[in-house]
Amino acid sequence: MESKLIRKKFLEFFEGKGHQVVPSAPLVMKNDPTLMFTNAGMNQFKDYFLGNKEAQEKRVTDTQKCLRVSGKHNDLEEVGIDTYHHTMFEMLGNWSFGDYFKKEAIAWAWELLTDVYKLPKDRLYVTVFEGDKADGLEFDREAYDIWKTYIEEERIIKASKEDNFWEMGDHGPCGPCSEIHIDLRTEEQIAQKGGKELVNQDHPQVIEIWNLVFIQYNRMVSGELKSLPEKHVDTGMGFERLAMALQGKMSNYDTDVFQPLIQVLEKASSKKYGQTEQTDIAMRVCADHIRAVAFAVADGQLPSNTGAGYVIRRILRRAVRYGYTFLNFREPFMYTLLEVLSEQFTGVFPELVSQKEFIKKVVHEEEASFLKTLEHGLKRLEHIKENLKESKVIDGKTAFELYDTFGFPLDLTSLIARENGLSVDEQGFEQEMQVQKSRSKHAATVEKGDWIVLQDQEEVEFLGYDQLQSTSQIIKYREVTEKKKKQYQIVLDRTPFYAESGGQVGDSGYLEANGQKIQVIDTKKENDLIVHFVTELPKKLDVAFESVVNERKRLLTQNNHSATHLLHAALKQVLGDHVQQKGSLVNDKLLRFDFSHFSKMTEEEIRRVEQLVNEKIRENIILDEQRNVPIEKAKEQGATALFGEKYGEFVRVITFDPNYSVELCGGTHVQATGVIGLFKIVSEGSVAAGVRRIEAVTAIEAEAYVEKQASLLNDLREVLKHPKDIKKALESLVIERQELAKEVESLHQEQVNKLKTYLKTRVTVLHGRNVLIEKVKLPSAEALKKLSFELKSQYSSFFMVLAADIKGKPQISVVISEELTKEAGLNAGKVVRELAKEIKGGGGGQPFFATAGGKDLEGLQKVVEKADDMVNVELAH
Ligand code: ALA
Repeated sequence: MESKLIRKKFLEFFEGKGHQVVPSAPLVMKNDPTLMFTNAGMNQFKDYFLGNKEAQEKRVTDTQKCLRVSGKHNDLEEVGIDTYHHTMFEMLGNWSFGDYFKKEAIAWAWELLTDVYKLPKDRLYVTVFEGDKADGLEFDREAYDIWKTYIEEERIIKASKEDNFWEMGDHGPCGPCSEIHIDLRTEEQIAQKGGKELVNQDHPQVIEIWNLVFIQYNRMVSGELKSLPEKHVDTGMGFERLAMALQGKMSNYDTDVFQPLIQVLEKASSKKYGQTEQTDIAMRVCADHIRAVAFAVADGQLPSNTGAGYVIRRILRRAVRYGYTFLNFREPFMYTLLEVLSEQFTGVFPELVSQKEFIKKVVHEEEASFLKTLEHGLKRLEHIKENLKESKVIDGKTAFELYDTFGFPLDLTSLIARENGLSVDEQGFEQEMQVQKSRSKHAATVEKGDWIVLQDQEEVEFLGYDQLQSTSQIIKYREVTEKKKKQYQIVLDRTPFYAESGGQVGDSGYLEANGQKIQVIDTKKENDLIVHFVTELPKKLDVAFESVVNERKRLLTQNNHSATHLLHAALKQVLGDHVQQKGSLVNDKLLRFDFSHFSKMTEEEIRRVEQLVNEKIRENIILDEQRNVPIEKAKEQGATALFGEKYGEFVRVITFDPNYSVELCGGTHVQATGVIGLFKIVSEGSVAAGVRRIEAVTAIEAEAYVEKQASLLNDLREVLKHPKDIKKALESLVIERQELAKEVESLHQEQVNKLKTYLKTRVTVLHGRNVLIEKVKLPSAEALKKLSFELKSQYSSFFMVLAADIKGKPQISVVISEELTKEAGLNAGKVVRELAKEIKGGGGGQPFFATAGGKDLEGLQKVVEKADDMVNVELAH
């Protein structure tokens, strides 16, 4: 069964059981501080489980893009080494939000696997939770008894909390689970050893394929388990493993999910998959990692040096390193896999298809730059080796430097070391790593207490589209300590405060009750909660507050947000349809807009974009804001949706002229474009491969910008004595200056030449050596140097001291021909240092040429006298 069909059958099966098919959430998490990447199908439904939000549909099903490379669920080190772990994988899931529970979940899982997919029952095993004393949890007898009706008891295995109590992270929704495992070994292998013994033993062919989680608890920050108001089902089946089982393969990489990628790698490297362990691992790593990188980039996460971006960078570098070392790739190669990859996902994940060129560009650029450091790193290693001398060990610090600066993983350093008869102090490396880890951990410590709930309320109401003030009650709050500073976070039952999202900054303002005013310094989203950041808690919590948004900041911010929409549309018109939003920041000072485009915008393009936006501002287009539009309908209207954003079933559509700008957007906007007043682009530049950034200002900031430019121009006019045409005046000034400079230079040269001729007549012979000691006047230090070298080249045995007055500053130049430095043991550096004392200065240089500068012009005469004395003494023998 082709993998496309496997996926389709899964979704259809659950659709038939009353589930709604929903799209995958983006791979990169937003608004969830506990996660960088989606690591399970249930992430996007967390709020339903916690009771923060009510699900419209009680049963849903989907295939979710997941990435398990950081935090609680991290498989990165296994990937490629084994044949069944992945960085990015698809998790097929079905969910019940307070609807069906264990009975149906188990029955349907069994029906799908054995009836629809027709997996042999005698190859399946199931595990159930045995209970856990520390958590006060009992054996899951209910699940056990249900399973008994489908499968022989000897195929049911009781397992511990480690394997059968599923938790999303350190805290959050969790519950006992029941896993389905499959034994894919040959009959002979099974005859030798029963599959039951191999369940949960990391055997590549006896593996878990489906996990049914019965979500019933919330793990608090304190570690305590709290029962949830309702019971839910969260299941996850590894799509790639299911494909292995259904396609009768022994490895995920032998399925049609990975084979097309491996074939590209085989061709490019002229090596065959299945020949050596090393090249196999390298091909698996590359085939796997390109998926993680491509989907992350498609969802808006570019490789970078911090956070989620750094994880993506590391994954890509891991692959490039494998390719370089074992597949002999010397040029970027990972990006070429995009062709096959995007074709594979046509009709499933459109973001990959429509952004193929952009992703290729990003990956190519990233590869090219790492290949450069890789080579540098190898050179550095060569250097380290040469300097090791006696020792045969590369110390931990050096290995860590290679890792940290050149992106060299320890295993690569060790491998190269071995080839050279050396070893690496791996423990020392680990220590350095720990030091760095604890440093970065330190930097990011934010300790959050548990929410203290004052009122049970499922959903909070956002009023901020229509009003900037309201009365509100606190429904929960918690204490937060960041860098030892205590703060509080407050959730209100209803709030006019806009929480940072879609690039628009959060509102600030205040809460007031009983004469006490509490400043709200910021507002952010946490999943769907609107969280207000305050520095102190009100004295009385359970009262009605007047909540008031800082109006000026909000109005200026929304000018910039609406202008961003106008800009987005203008860019598409001027540059083309390939322009896609890649990031945005909107605050009360400016707007910053990142978008995909492959070359620098010309002045002309910038001007046209600016003109178009200002035209739309002057048209004073009335805002058309539609809330709760079914997403399909919004798309029919041609609304621009952003990749990497999670949209619900109902969306908000912001239109400024249906023929100009229609966007899905949750931000706040001007009532009519006229209030934006003026739009000015202040910069255009590159932020990453294929991504440009525009910064612009509007309204009073634009006015201030224009004023500043105009007043600068006025100042210039004044300096230039009010010419008719200021540009012409400046141009001729520049040309005049260049001509004058040339003239001055030739005059200087003439002066130097004359001086040179004169100085030659002043050369005397002392004990068979040519000596010249003179006071001179010169226009520049450069001229002194030039003169010194010109004279030097004319005499073989030569001792020269020039004591120069350079525009009122004393300078000394000493030349001693090489011959003399050897014969008489003289050194120009030493001589110049001695002479410089007379001008209260210092200097140095080489044995045959040295210079010094000083402060005392009067001293030049003394320099000459002292030099005379020196010569008489030093050249006497
Ligand atoms: N949430 C469960 C898992 O990720 C299904 O394994």
